[in-house]
Amino acid sequence: MADSRDQPLVLGIETSCDETGVGIVHGTTLLADAIASSVDEHARFGGVVPEVASRAHLEAMVPTIDRALKEAGVTAKDLDGIAVTAGPGLAGALLVGVSAAKAFAYAFGKPLYGVNHLASHICVDQLEHGTLPEPTMALLVSGGHSSLLLSADITSDVRPLGATIDDAAGEAFDKIARVLDLGFPGGPVIDRYAKEGDPEAIAFPRGLTGPRDPAYDFSFSGLKTSVARWIEAKRAAGEDVPVRDVAASFQEAVVDVLTRKAVRACKDEGVDHLMIGGGVAANTRLRAMAQERCDAAGIRLRVPRPKLCTDNGAMVAALGAEMVARNRSASDWDLSADSSLPVTEPHVPGHSHSHDHDHVHEVSKENLYS
Ligand code: KG4
Ligand code: ZN
Repeated sequence: MADSRDQPLVLGIETSCDETGVGIVHGTTLLADAIASSVDEHARFGGVVPEVASRAHLEAMVPTIDRALKEAGVTAKDLDGIAVTAGPGLAGALLVGVSAAKAFAYAFGKPLYGVNHLASHICVDQLEHGTLPEPTMALLVSGGHSSLLLSADITSDVRPLGATIDDAAGEAFDKIARVLDLGFPGGPVIDRYAKEGDPEAIAFPRGLTGPRDPAYDFSFSGLKTSVARWIEAKRAAGEDVPVRDVAASFQEAVVDVLTRKAVRACKDEGVDHLMIGGGVAANTRLRAMAQERCDAAGIRLRVPRPKLCTDNGAMVAALGAEMVARNRSASDWDLSADSSLPVTEPHVPGHSHSHDHDHVHEVSKENLYS
């Protein structure tokens, strides 16, 4: 991390899914976190519709950038860099953010940093709890991903220890909510119903927890099928479905597996703290059980506040600021969106190895004329 005297001022743009997020940070200090969401437009389809999301990003982009600058009380000229989610995510949605970031960075002569959405979900915790310890163990649980990651340096070294072999944790929440007719997105509503239900009412399966199963991989599709069958059987028998108990028991199965494996990874790797990020980290039961189990194992838990767990622009700015502070090379003007950018690539560097502005412009001219 840079000294406080040279903390970079960075604007970050996030458009990988259905939130148009623009955040501004000063090093690890959050100055603005502006968000426009198209979630209501997707609700009636039961999932995010890519074309609808892309158009909503396009409409929201300029007003959201303006709002963030105003909130932070800075002007574009003050910025040290522009960061943008280059992937993974929906291709068309990512493209809107990348194009906007390029235009903005080029117009104001600022270096551009294409960054990884998943590494951003980890780095955002710096805005709440200060500089991340190194290495950091991270449990990343969102609508598209469920992974255990060990990072020695969030700008350059992210190692996957395990991941889901089928559904992501958030996807399982969304699918079960649909079966229960609770609407979209499923996580927050299941979280709410579960509070009034009995987590031990139904013993749903814990995927990949047998002695011969891979220690750090996850599987939620068996659980999903099991919950759906259980509900179907109730309905077929003409009985009422105890929605609160189903929600609580399902949530308990997901959270039990996630926390068990995360704590085990910390112990195995000798890491004494755990970070949890991604939309599902907003889950109240996950936060509570992780705290209990980390306390019992002598592990320090770091989970950002719920608003920083779900997609936002501040997380992108946080990782961008870290890139600037660590002198990582800026991206070139031919930066493109990569819908399947691997988690092992925290950022998409340019061909140059300097983050000097003029040099970036030189390289871009070469690209333009070659
Ligand atoms: O990180 P995120 O905002 O977007 C992706 O990158 O996917 O995560 C969205 C996911 C959705 O599946 C949503 O249902 C889930 O996070 N989620 C939750 C909660 N809040 C959001 N899952 C469980 N409990 C919550 N409170
Ligand atoms: Zn996300």
